[in-house]
Amino acid sequence: MKKTLLASVLIGLGLTAVHAHAADNELNLYSARHYQTDEALYQDFTKQTGIKINRIEAKEDELLERIRNEGANSPADVFITVDASRLAKADELGIFAPVKSKVLEERIPAHLRTDNWFSYSTRARLIVYNKETVKPEQVQTYASLASPELKGKVCTRSGSHPYNISLGAALINHEGAEKTEKWARDLVANFARTPKGGDTDQIKAVAAGECGVAIANSYYLARLMNSTKEEDKAVVAKVGAVWPNQKTWGTHINISGAGMLKHAPNKAAAVKFLEYLASDSAQKYFADGNNEWPVVQSVKVTNPALEALGDFKADTLPVGDLAKTAAEAQRIYDRAGFR
Ligand SMILES: [Fe+2]
Repeated sequence: MKKTLLASVLIGLGLTAVHAHAADNELNLYSARHYQTDEALYQDFTKQTGIKINRIEAKEDELLERIRNEGANSPADVFITVDASRLAKADELGIFAPVKSKVLEERIPAHLRTDNWFSYSTRARLIVYNKETVKPEQVQTYASLASPELKGKVCTRSGSHPYNISLGAALINHEGAEKTEKWARDLVANFARTPKGGDTDQIKAVAAGECGVAIANSYYLARLMNSTKEEDKAVVAKVGAVWPNQKTWGTHINISGAGMLKHAPNKAAAVKFLEYLASDSAQKYFADGNNEWPVVQSVKVTNPALEALGDFKADTLPVGDLAKTAAEAQRIYDRAGFR
């Protein structure tokens, strides 16, 4: 009865039915990643292992709510999402089980994993500027975005978005809460417009001249750089990109990552999947499919946009630490009116 109800709810949502008991060669994946190219990644896993993936895709909070409501009966084996603070928040809810894996320890750098969850790709939060109205020398650091000379020129997505909260969390870690609060206030004073839209919208607004400068994740810019659409090429032609903070702690990076759930019915398959995500072929999917950097250093990137963007010094703050200051970052943004 319970299963029928679950199945009908899932069918109502247009999702695959998943079972809470262990099934031969199946893996139940709860995913909050929002990239179409992930399909190829999951198919490759099935081809390599014979393990079928039942994927439930929804927004982060819905999935977490669901995992908690399902409790010990949850069919979820692996939870995969983007953003370090979100993963750490999920971890704080106690939903993950620790995974001890030599493969993961060897392949993923220590600062990009915790005992309970692992990063599989990185993206950088970079500064995009309009080549006609802003000089790259003016925007070499995150701090520079708050300088008076950029008054009325700065665009960004909402301050409550995890990408910006994680950036704030990194700033608190490196520069302290007080400095970060002043930065947030001065940043808001520099806004060209009230925050709206996603990172791609900010890049387009910079190209259009509505903003002089914006903060955006590297993969959105790389996606535009690799696009064959004329309108995207026109956007790319108008903008330049800076890796912020190269002379200090490096450019803030965020991650996508995954962990095995405490009540996973298919634990062996879950570990296989987590290890698969760190394999050469999976790492290439992240780089080629979604314009992210592989976490495994030996994997060569062949993505034209990533190659064009080149090397940079990335922040090496342990990703697990970002969550410790994320709530404070949000409070600071709220006080500063960065909404
Ligand atoms: Fe995104």
